[in-house]
Amino acid sequence: MSAIVLTARELTRHYSVSRGLFQPLASVQALNGVSFDLQAGKTLAVVGESGCGKSTLARALTLIEQPSSGSLQIAGQEVSGASRAQRKQLRRDVQMVFQNPYASLNPRQKIGDQLGEPLLINTALSRLERRERVQAMMQQVGLRPEHYQRYPHMFSGGQRQRIALARAMMLQPKVLVADEPTSALDVSIQAQVLNLFMDLQEQYGTAYVFISHNLSVVRHVADDVLVMYLGRPVEMGPKELIYARPLHPYTQALLSATPTIHPDPSKPKIRIVGELPNPLDPPAGCAFHKRCPHATERCRTEQPPLRLLEARQVACHHAETINR
Ligand SMILES: Nc1ncnc2c1ncn2[C@@H]1O[C@H](COP(=O)(O)OP(=O)(O)OP(=O)(O)O)[C@@H](O)[C@H]1O
Ligand SMILES: [Mg+2]
Repeated sequence: MSAIVLTARELTRHYSVSRGLFQPLASVQALNGVSFDLQAGKTLAVVGESGCGKSTLARALTLIEQPSSGSLQIAGQEVSGASRAQRKQLRRDVQMVFQNPYASLNPRQKIGDQLGEPLLINTALSRLERRERVQAMMQQVGLRPEHYQRYPHMFSGGQRQRIALARAMMLQPKVLVADEPTSALDVSIQAQVLNLFMDLQEQYGTAYVFISHNLSVVRHVADDVLVMYLGRPVEMGPKELIYARPLHPYTQALLSATPTIHPDPSKPKIRIVGELPNPLDPPAGCAFHKRCPHATERCRTEQPPLRLLEARQVACHHAETINR
């Protein structure tokens, strides 16, 4: 078994938001009680509708923001008690790739220099050694040597995402968090970039947290899947199990809405009806109850805890009865 490189326990993040002049501040529970272990070389995919807290989780995992509570360990090192120097190292260990690579690249700096920057800041390598490393990485991500001297605007979206990925991988991080990394790309380019993600993972043994609302993409890349609803995990477990037999009504609805090449006529499409609840005023009980076809009185009042069922975790009072 590979080493665990990322451990999250009950990660929670609240935001205080203004409701208007002279109104008391309200609190958004953007992330609520997320726990998982991630092994080297494995991919945890995070899925769920817009606003369910995926990017909030990404920011907590990459130390961009501090969680309100809960704990995070990177390669066994607790983040919250870390010294400045340790934090610097931890930030190296967890890198991030964003949806829009253009926003994360400096428009005035040549690609070669941008890729070499992490090495310049964090290593004692000579100029020549840095250049060699950058060129090797560029080749690995499918860029040509002459691209070294070019600026970000001279590349296509797919190439820019290759550059962003190369930069994130320069220091060989233990964990890469990718937030919708292919959502802005053409479908034909998406597959190439996804394959590049997979190739680099195989080569470096990097663990990925891969955020996507596209369940076909997730199916391609994930080992484990974490399904979130309104900041909370509702189902989490091995990809094969979850795709073959989702137990939570929300996961069932998400998967049912995903186009497949061979639709199963025996499985009617489940529609998610109604709107996502207002995160400022989440419903009592199970957050999904207003949209759930199986909701009962208990679901309206009592929040279902995550529990082990059929080799994965699921937060639904009625998971057994509705999946008989
Ligand atoms: N800085 C912030 N201040 C206040 N509320 C925030 C802040 N960041 C996020 N939120 C709220 O937290 C919730 C989760 O947001 P988040 O961006 O994590 O969702 P997401 O799953 O990444 O959505 P999307 O799929 O649209 O990217 C939302 O209700 C959002 O409005
Ligand atoms: Mg997001």
